[in-house]
Amino acid sequence: MTHVGIISVGSYLPSKVLSNFDLEKMVDTTDEWITSRTGIKERRVAAKDEKTSDLATKAALNALKHGKLEASKIDLIIVATISPDSNFPSVACIVQKNIGATKAAAFDISAACSGFLYAMTTAKQFIPTGLYKNALVIAAEKITSLVDWNDRSTCVLFGDGAGACVLAPTKSDGIISEYMHAEGEFGHLMAVYVDYPDTFDPDNKSMGIPRIAMQGKELFKVAVNSMAAAVEHALKKAKLDLEEVDCVVPHQANDRIISAVAKKLGIPKDKFYINIDRYGNMSAASLAVALCEAVEAKKIKKGSNVVLVAFGAGLVSAANVVKW
Ligand code: UT7
Repeated sequence: MTHVGIISVGSYLPSKVLSNFDLEKMVDTTDEWITSRTGIKERRVAAKDEKTSDLATKAALNALKHGKLEASKIDLIIVATISPDSNFPSVACIVQKNIGATKAAAFDISAACSGFLYAMTTAKQFIPTGLYKNALVIAAEKITSLVDWNDRSTCVLFGDGAGACVLAPTKSDGIISEYMHAEGEFGHLMAVYVDYPDTFDPDNKSMGIPRIAMQGKELFKVAVNSMAAAVEHALKKAKLDLEEVDCVVPHQANDRIISAVAKKLGIPKDKFYINIDRYGNMSAASLAVALCEAVEAKKIKKGSNVVLVAFGAGLVSAANVVKW
């Protein structure tokens, strides 16, 4: 049996910081409300001319550098994003060109905040079959371009960033279980509606600017249940008990969601890697950046049992167990 592991990680965060105090000057909110309801203190915002593909490219180069890997040897690139530069070409194709991964196949995946795990699980399938020897998995979002900056209930939550990892065969262990789930019946709880013309009409110039619409309270409950269930499914498949988990890297939507998931599972919260205070919710990129930081901070070491778990619009949830 071929084992597939994460052999390298990398991330990139735009330099511009938008603090809660900056937001106080933009909408009717306070640092106290944002901190106590979400755990967020600040987030990063990409520059005007900085696209999702630019963030993705920098995270990818970082992951390649950390693993001392050459772009020309990469077989497959998958980018998870819901904020691509454009409908097409895919962000993955732009990254492929930017980094010079000349032999790689490349495509995007849309699974909102669960995108990094959906992409990782998809990429992983190609390696044991022998089709590819490795894969570069990237999650990148310029989600602030989809934010309604007049809506205080959503604009305080999001930030931009990108994370990446390289998958390749390992001697043992690696990604030992994967779980992906979807509950389309909850799709209306969070969406970006684009006003596409219904019919062919060259005179119709009325495409609205797409913006995030969210029913936060309802989403909160589903998030807690779905993330806890995803962890249980993935651990069962990995034949691991909750007590054997060394580190949980969760999607960072709200610190209170993470607390509730920890409590529901009975895993001490100090085993969860949390960076929402610095970056807010970066959709698919949140988990990818958190994983990179957890490795760099040595919260994840050789032999650690790591649970990666996410939840997002769709609704989609996912969890992977990795023996590092
Ligand atoms: O990435 C995955 C998808 N996203 C999520 O999973 C997000 C899940 N939901 C949440 O994280 C939380 O529901 C929110 C952070 C979005 C909201 O927190 P909440 O505790 O559920 O607040 P709420 O929506 O019930 O609002 C409570 C009050 C309201 O005022 P009233 O009606 O009680 O007078 C809101 O108008 O807080 C008000 N409010 C604010 N006040 C100050 C909402 N946003 C703000 C704000 N500043 N930014």
